[in-house]
Parts: sequence; C-alpha cells; structure tokens
Amino acid sequence: MSLIHEIDYGTPASKSETMVTLTIDGQQISVPEGTSVMRASMEAGIEVPKLCATDMVDAFGSCRLCLVE
Ligand code: FES
Repeated sequence: MSLIHEIDYGTPASKSETMVTLTIDGQQISVPEGTSVMRASMEAGIEVPKLCATDMVDAFGSCRLCLVE
C-alpha cells in the first residue's frame, strides 16, 4: 500500500481569468486575480506554515499561524 501525496495549496483556486503578478521572497509569480498569498506562495514552491487552511474550503483564518509580512 502506498500513500498518495497531494499538494495542499491552503485555499481554493481562483476562477478569475485576469492574471496578476506578484513578488514573494524576490521571486515573481503570475496567478489568477483573487489568489491568496498562501496559494501563490505554494505555487512558487514556497510553503507558508499552516494549521487551519486547506484548499478544500474557503479561508476562514482561525489559527493565525500563517501570518506573512
Ligand atoms: S493557517 Fe492561516 S489562519 Fe490558520
């Protein structure tokens, strides 16, 4: 038996067709408008620590572990 390792991006994907570009830790990334910083970070390979966030539900921010500057 093997485990399936899926990436959890922290928040659901945005459905916007408009792209925005942002810089995270000096790395530029383009994502659909409305994408969370957590999800954009993960798409760039930068993992933000999280407890209550999952891409299966909208963000509700209850634990405050994922604070970013
Ligand atoms: S992971 Fe962000 S508030 Fe919990």
